[in-house]
Amino acid sequence: MSIRETQAWQALEQQLEGGMRDVHLKTLFQQPSRFETFALEAAGIHLDLSKQRWTPEVRDQLIALAEEARVPEAIQRLLRGERVNQTEDRPALHSALRLPREAKLEVEGVDVVGEVHATLDKMETLVGKLLQGQWRGATGKPITDVVNLGVGGSDLGPLMVTSALADFEPDHAHEVATHFASTMDGSQLADFLGWLNPETTLFILSSKSFGTIDTLSNASTALDWIASRLGGDEKLIKRFHFVGVSTKPDKMSEWGIDPANQLLFWDWVGGRYSLWSAIGLPIAIRVGMDNFRRLLAGAHAMDEHFRTAPLAENLPVQLALIGIWNVNFLDIRSHAVLPYDGRLKHLPGYFQQLEMESNGKSVTNDDAVVDYSTCPVIWGEIGPNGQHAFYQLLHQGTQPVACDFLAPINRYNDVEDVRFRDDLMAQHRLALANCFAQSRVLMLGDDAIKSESTPPSYKRYRGNQPSTTMLFDSLNPATLGALIALYEHKVFVQGVIWNIDSFDQWGVELGKKIATETEEIIATHSGLETLDDSSRGLIEAIWRGQQQA
Ligand code: F6P
Repeated sequence: MSIRETQAWQALEQQLEGGMRDVHLKTLFQQPSRFETFALEAAGIHLDLSKQRWTPEVRDQLIALAEEARVPEAIQRLLRGERVNQTEDRPALHSALRLPREAKLEVEGVDVVGEVHATLDKMETLVGKLLQGQWRGATGKPITDVVNLGVGGSDLGPLMVTSALADFEPDHAHEVATHFASTMDGSQLADFLGWLNPETTLFILSSKSFGTIDTLSNASTALDWIASRLGGDEKLIKRFHFVGVSTKPDKMSEWGIDPANQLLFWDWVGGRYSLWSAIGLPIAIRVGMDNFRRLLAGAHAMDEHFRTAPLAENLPVQLALIGIWNVNFLDIRSHAVLPYDGRLKHLPGYFQQLEMESNGKSVTNDDAVVDYSTCPVIWGEIGPNGQHAFYQLLHQGTQPVACDFLAPINRYNDVEDVRFRDDLMAQHRLALANCFAQSRVLMLGDDAIKSESTPPSYKRYRGNQPSTTMLFDSLNPATLGALIALYEHKVFVQGVIWNIDSFDQWGVELGKKIATETEEIIATHSGLETLDDSSRGLIEAIWRGQQQA
């Protein structure tokens, strides 16, 4: 049965036709105590859902929809380690990666917690060696730079978190810098290799499948770079300068990663959910293992909230439900992520993969084509920069866009230099003021400010763009962990309601296969006749252009 046939869905459609489709947020704000009605808090995250175009009655019906879709049961199945990833027939147990050491979780006869903590301990040893200057390159010099070679989930999570938590770098006697190269065209890597010292550089080959061409091609360039500069035995170079993180020990060994340098994780960790596993190694190198464990603990606090809180108070569930209301009822299919904190500059990119690779699906778990919309288009940018770029469209364009505003409550409190601290705190105040002002204007439009006369139409703001504001006590490992887990679980709940598999990504496979065949044609100059007219024309243009160069 399609979710559209449930009683709750139909009741929501009636609410829509009964006035909710056209009601303006400024009218909704005439209801008393709207903030209290729609404010929620858990694990250091404060959620304000009052600027969404809903009422308590709509929210109740959405909760009824979640119950009809058996969300409560699905949450328990996810966290218990049942095979919720139907097409790949396996659990999605990223939450197990953040269980404390003393927790118990046996999945299909295996003590998951024991395995997870054994890997964390191996990671800790490796990180300790690096940060104490005891990991030396082939010529005996301590490693000073680590380059993570990975893409998608093997890049975006660690990149986003290391950048968000840069303030948490502990004081080490020995500094180790972290860098990220993901692009298959080699541009990021070529840039690093232009100035890094091969004697003191360590590469992490980060790939769940250890078969991703983007990462393997960067790895091979990196290996040739070190080998050509240091000379000597390639086996030794691999031992001193390469670490592997993957679920595939055989493939790592085949490439030449020393088993002592291999960190493993498991098939039941989805790539885009893997920063909590050894894929988080660059995070631990950058902020230290204690902070990495705090990140896990923050996410675990959100897991516990998700597991135990009633649907009406459950942050991930409520965030999911307002997303369903926006997409499926108000027909808002564009969703912007707008952090008012420069340290979160990679968050929109990270959420793009998390949400769109998870829920960008159109076939249900029962193998039927969906008759409703699923994941909206996720995009975004640091809010204050977006204000000078695309907010024009948010305020006066023709697209409805749902926005998530994110900001820390406290920032810069511990800057020692008093004058500098005052300046920076004033800048933080300015950022918060802009964050609140923007969501207010998006909500109220012209009514945000009293005016004697009616402005010309090009100066008018219609308002009624819905938004969520998320404040966190401060940006630290624990709150960041909780924030990421909040979105992970939101995505899961939406997937349950849409009856899709949020943990596979078959949509990216065909492109990879065709790219391999196309590369063969470009390199060998044969097989062009098998292609369509456009591809043929483009490849011929490449051949002509490269011959002339
Ligand atoms: O192509 C998509 C994808 O499979 C993502 O799901 C994944 O995060 C990324 O590629 C990288 O995969 P891997 O870690 O196996 O190299």
